[in-house]
Amino acid sequence: MGEKRILCIGLVCLDIISVVESYPAEDTDTRCCSQRWQRGGNASNSCTVLSLLGAPCAFMGSLAPGHAQLLGVGQGLLLWAMGGYVFSPPPCPGCLPLGGCSLTNVTAEDFERVELSQYKWIHWEGRNAVEQVKMLQQVEEHNRACPVSQRVATSVEVEKPRQELYQLFGYGDVVFVSKDVAKDFGFHSAAETVKGLYGRVRPGAVLICPWAENGADAMGPDGRLVHVDAFSPETIVDTLGAGDTFNAAVILALSQGKHPTHTSFQGALWGAGRGRWLWGELPA
Ligand code: FRU
Repeated sequence: MGEKRILCIGLVCLDIISVVESYPAEDTDTRCCSQRWQRGGNASNSCTVLSLLGAPCAFMGSLAPGHAQLLGVGQGLLLWAMGGYVFSPPPCPGCLPLGGCSLTNVTAEDFERVELSQYKWIHWEGRNAVEQVKMLQQVEEHNRACPVSQRVATSVEVEKPRQELYQLFGYGDVVFVSKDVAKDFGFHSAAETVKGLYGRVRPGAVLICPWAENGADAMGPDGRLVHVDAFSPETIVDTLGAGDTFNAAVILALSQGKHPTHTSFQGALWGAGRGRWLWGELPA
């Protein structure tokens, strides 16, 4: 078997991006300077960044039939179908190259067919939380039955302020919580958020909260707060996908064994800014 991969599970979608001179005022017509179609979706974006950073990675998620499929393949992402879901690369023998299919969120039943030993890390973009909890439990069970060196690390992203997603706090070795969710809980900063929500994560987990230009804060089992200032690139090319880039950079650093208090992990938090540049430089 080659090097183990990082698997991202979640959305892939088509982003139609209209570029305008300035932010449009409400109820006005604005001529756009250009428009482009681009593959989007948090899990798919994080996967793109992981691969740009040179990490062996994989994607599992749902994709509606149509132009988006062509776009995915056209951007060098060869998709495979199994049980109604798309993958890249195939998660097990017997997968078929993608034909037209109509898809929904990944379920625990489909996840059962994934060969977990292929992956060193699995990341879930919080979506259908009830099913995702079952998948996380499948990984916990797999981990209990194998040597420590073979265990699969897990992370979850709680990005949308939706009650259903909050059960995900209790799972995963790493939990990413967004500014929007933090505000939904009544917090006003990343530090307040990780301190306030740490009690919800499972013992030993790391909780991370990025807060745009204020940088990011993290807390691990030792209870120490780690803060990193935001990195400001000279020119901001594109902020779309900045959070997904941040997640990818952090997952990569941690999957390489870097500890949250380690300076290279802080470098990964800094990766949000660097990634923003990387992301903007993506080929069309
Ligand atoms: C960016 C993004 C876009 C997509 C949207 C889905 O984080 O993944 O690519 O349209 O968010 O929520």
